[in-house]
Amino acid sequence: MTAPAKREPVTGPLLEIEDLVVEFAGDEETVRAVDGAGYTVAPGETLGVVGESGSGKSVTAMSALGLIRPPGRVVSGRVVFDGSDLRAMAPRELRRLRGGRIAMIFQDPTTALNPVMSIGAQIGEALRLHRRGMSRAKARARAAELLTLVGVPGAERRLKQYPHEFSGGMRQRAMIAMAIANDPDLLIADEPTTALDVTVQAQVLDLIRLTRRETGAATVLITHDLGVVAELADRVVVMYAGRVVEHGAVAAIFDSPRHPYTRGLLESLPALDGEAGDLTPIPGSPPAPGEIAEGCAFAPRCPMARDRCRVERPELVQLGAVAGGRGGSSPHLETGAGRGSACHFHHELAGEETDARA
Ligand SMILES: Nc1ncnc2c1ncn2[C@@H]1O[C@H](COP(=O)(O)OP(=O)(O)OP(=O)(O)O)[C@@H](O)[C@H]1O
Ligand SMILES: [Mg+2]
Repeated sequence: MTAPAKREPVTGPLLEIEDLVVEFAGDEETVRAVDGAGYTVAPGETLGVVGESGSGKSVTAMSALGLIRPPGRVVSGRVVFDGSDLRAMAPRELRRLRGGRIAMIFQDPTTALNPVMSIGAQIGEALRLHRRGMSRAKARARAAELLTLVGVPGAERRLKQYPHEFSGGMRQRAMIAMAIANDPDLLIADEPTTALDVTVQAQVLDLIRLTRRETGAATVLITHDLGVVAELADRVVVMYAGRVVEHGAVAAIFDSPRHPYTRGLLESLPALDGEAGDLTPIPGSPPAPGEIAEGCAFAPRCPMARDRCRVERPELVQLGAVAGGRGGSSPHLETGAGRGSACHFHHELAGEETDARA
């Protein structure tokens, strides 16, 4: 009945999330964590997902893994992986997908590693789960190879150890080894470096590069760190209060943001060349889910907000090449690439940019 997972090259988007609404039922009220968000990921590309804490980055990505569990519920929307509707998939099929064609790495490797199982057994199990008939010996040899690949020295000896015998950075590496074990098509990395010190952060980012090179996997890279996005991502999605407020090619967005929230994020970022410019953090904080009034959720913090913003919620619109502007990337509507902004006044930001460069 279940056809074997097909491995022909994917032509359309690899992952499509559209109009996703996710709610969490609480004792007193139901919280809408994701409110119509969506993005697409093309095969092999790296998509950065940024936005302040609570904006729905993780919950959106979790939906792509079929990992929203009660009290959470996907209320509506489409989640399609390589042509298959994940919301219609049987739990068994979903489990096969996770750790197989879709792999994930998290901020906290302890959630991905089993404390009572040796590292070797865990990587071996991940391998054997998705390759029926792979012998234990073969799985063990491959596990050693993978550990070596991700830079764990003395892999043979390390295989016998348990997660608590690994340092934080080494645990992160073990988790990455497990994630790439089955040559995934899609890697979801949720804040993979947040808990780590700067040196280890850099190493983990190198590993994500290595993973892409080794597997050719598309990557969804969720991070607070716009510097990481600038370095690793092809495109970026900016989330605010459960919605996508801007998306586009990294260069275009960093060059000329078309949403005041994105501009605020960029202005609060230390210059990428290491020069400490005037850092202006965005004043205020995001609304708690449930506290979002009508109109634009960013309006209360937005320096450009005016009456219209407080009553009319801006839709995410596709931006074409601006007439008279510098063009930017051409829209590829069929893959969801191109650029989009959910600001009523995005053209004013484009105008400012043109003026500044005139
Ligand atoms: N298990 C849960 N139970 C109840 N509410 C939840 C749960 N997980 C997430 N939420 C709600 O969903 C909102 C979005 O959460 P999400 O984890 O996606 O944010 P995020 O953008 O990943 O933030 P961070 O940058 O802190 O990781 C949260 O503000 C919270 O209200
Ligand atoms: Mg998160």
